[in-house]
Amino acid sequence: MSYTHPETGKEGEAMSHETRKEVIHTFQVNFFAMSRLNAFPWDSLDGEIMTTTTSDIITEILQKTCLHPICLKNPPSLKYRRRFLTELIKRHEMLAAEPLDALYEALGEVMCAQEEDMCYKTYLLPTGDAVSLAENVALISQGTTGLVTWEAALYLTEWALENTHIFKNKTVLELGSGVGLTGIVVCLSSSLTKYIFSDCHQTVLQRLKDNITNYLTNSDSSRASVCVEELDWENVSDEQLQRIQANTIIAADVVYDPDVIACLVRLLSRLLNCKVQEEHPDVYIASTVRNPQTYDCFKKELEMAGLRHVVMKDSVAQVFPYNRATTIEMIQIYV
Ligand SMILES: C[S@@+](CC[C@H](N)C(=O)[O-])C[C@H]1O[C@@H](n2cnc3c(N)ncnc32)[C@H](O)[C@@H]1O
Repeated sequence: MSYTHPETGKEGEAMSHETRKEVIHTFQVNFFAMSRLNAFPWDSLDGEIMTTTTSDIITEILQKTCLHPICLKNPPSLKYRRRFLTELIKRHEMLAAEPLDALYEALGEVMCAQEEDMCYKTYLLPTGDAVSLAENVALISQGTTGLVTWEAALYLTEWALENTHIFKNKTVLELGSGVGLTGIVVCLSSSLTKYIFSDCHQTVLQRLKDNITNYLTNSDSSRASVCVEELDWENVSDEQLQRIQANTIIAADVVYDPDVIACLVRLLSRLLNCKVQEEHPDVYIASTVRNPQTYDCFKKELEMAGLRHVVMKDSVAQVFPYNRATTIEMIQIYV
């Protein structure tokens, strides 16, 4: 069956069963990761409502988002759910005849509730597992950038999912772990020996510990042992470095503040020169290049410290919904 969109005048066809499933899944993945609303496949939804002239797809989307058990336990922010439901209602009212009570009931619930600083973002993995993290609503809060998951962490996590062999039987140190997505997914997907999450900010460290305990425990002998270290790049003792003994070091979005680049590079140099089982560690850093000057300054500091780097250009399959148009660069650093 074909239709003509009342506003855009575009013509459309009814979706196949597979496409419909895919559209609903895309709504779900975007909703739980709190993606921008314009990233949702609204046009496909409009088409389906028009051609079927029923509200079934809206009901299904509602079940897979606001009424899903994940949302009942670990909901995205109230403001986000309010905006999402308002848009869903708008689409439904514009194209379908009968009002859908469940939509208004869901909106009513989020209208009455009190706004909070914290929310949950849930990342759906290719295995079907879901990782829900407590994150702050604001990108920068309590004097830190560490209470949200940044795009470079999503990229590093996707890269890690494709390169599980790199972590096999390794002790991995993550610098500036933030709320913990990369480490949790690396531990769930790779057979590594030990994963050391680290950060310097007290609130971030506490949030990190809370998020980790929901997914990783040291009582599970089939998984890597995990720990959270307070590790400030400006102040790391030789004793702490000796104790860590990491074969692999990873970090996401740690190159953004020109004032801390020098100490970050000094630390990387010390880590790289600290051989573990006769070998220099491997270092991988994923960065969103917001300010090319800051990023160049990081590369120059690496050079001045005698460290070489190579840009990793292999394509990585996208697992999480985020804007891939942003420049994210991943490098490997060597002595
Ligand atoms: C932009 S956030 C990135 C967090 C996480 N890696 C991600 O990409 O989602 C930067 C992280 O680096 C940490 N950080 C900043 N300066 C640091 C320092 N001097 N020592 C240790 N961690 C630091 C912050 O606390 C924050 O968690």
